[in-house]
Amino acid sequence: MHLRKSSERLAAFAHKLVKWFEQNKRSLPWRETSDPYRILVSETMLQQTRVETVVPYYHRFLERFPDVQSLAQAPEQDVMKLWQGLGYYARARNLQRAAAAVVEQYAGQFPRAVDEVRSLPGVGPYTSGAVMSIAFNRPVAAVDGNVLRVMSRYLGIEQPIDHPPVKREITEHVQHAVEQTVPQSFTQALMELGAMVCTPRKPQCLACPIQDDCTAFAQASVDSIPVKRPKRARKPLTVMALWIEQDGRLLVEQRQGEGLLANMWQLPSLEVDGPNGDEEVLASLARRRLAQLFPGHTEDRGWLVREGPSDVREFAEIASAKHIFTHLEWDVRVLRPIGVQFDPGAIDLPQNAQFVPTAQLRQLVWPKVYVKILYDVLKVDVATVTS
Ligand code: ADE
Repeated sequence: MHLRKSSERLAAFAHKLVKWFEQNKRSLPWRETSDPYRILVSETMLQQTRVETVVPYYHRFLERFPDVQSLAQAPEQDVMKLWQGLGYYARARNLQRAAAAVVEQYAGQFPRAVDEVRSLPGVGPYTSGAVMSIAFNRPVAAVDGNVLRVMSRYLGIEQPIDHPPVKREITEHVQHAVEQTVPQSFTQALMELGAMVCTPRKPQCLACPIQDDCTAFAQASVDSIPVKRPKRARKPLTVMALWIEQDGRLLVEQRQGEGLLANMWQLPSLEVDGPNGDEEVLASLARRRLAQLFPGHTEDRGWLVREGPSDVREFAEIASAKHIFTHLEWDVRVLRPIGVQFDPGAIDLPQNAQFVPTAQLRQLVWPKVYVKILYDVLKVDVATVTS
């Protein structure tokens, strides 16, 4: 292995970081435990999500699911409800699968070998490194985006950090360093430095415990490292969502499949590529979705009764909201059919759709964008966890 810094310098780096951490660490709930299950929960929540956001979710989640058994046994929708608003919902499903694997394959005892931890659903090299080092104090590198930023500056790496050989090289340095100190403290120290000092913008180099050995600081290249490859543009999607409310009940549907937001609830909707939301396009999508929802039904067969003059506009746009995902951007446009009555009892709905009393909407799990829409239209807060 070619090391950019000598073994001695990496050892000194590790010691300085650990010392700094012991004196400066924030008090965070997952720092009060070495229970591997709790560390797994916190590290899973902390991926892509800020510490301040995670703290209340962490407390609620562990109150309801204090151990792997309780999580493994829970209905998936209960788990999702406690995750609602954190985003990246595959994490929650994988966490539950990991708990089930610990119960089934390891008799409920969290495995202690790195290969076993690594084989749990949803657990990649970062998470297994974090659990091994933080919970078991074993010397296994944990390299996330924060660590890549700190290390690429410290080592003066000017190649893109999202390039696999570059990540491998950084991981080798972290591995070398973690082997020469207290792994539990070192892993958290690197993350803490990335969060508090070696931040993406305006890093606090004057407060940095490793400034004297930092290559980027010495070369005045802190602001240009890390280098990232240009991101691919997000794909814009227009989502036409239907608002069909009758006698205090709202028509909602559960998303299907394994993909984005699987099994979460939404308004009946249709997606089309592009920023494509002019009135005519939206109206034609709305007509198509109505025809899919109520196949074979027409106005004169009684599922809806058109009232008033026929020249009224067919749909009113009553709300809209945008949401940005990693690779997509949703522009959700909510259309209510005008001047029609629905007869919930007479309609043979698809299996994943139902009319739900608006007072019960908060029992379902909603993507954030619909939390906003339901609040805008009904002034109900469906994000509140009621369990
Ligand atoms: N980011 C990822 N893991 C973390 C941890 N254990 N503490 C603070 N921030 C983190």
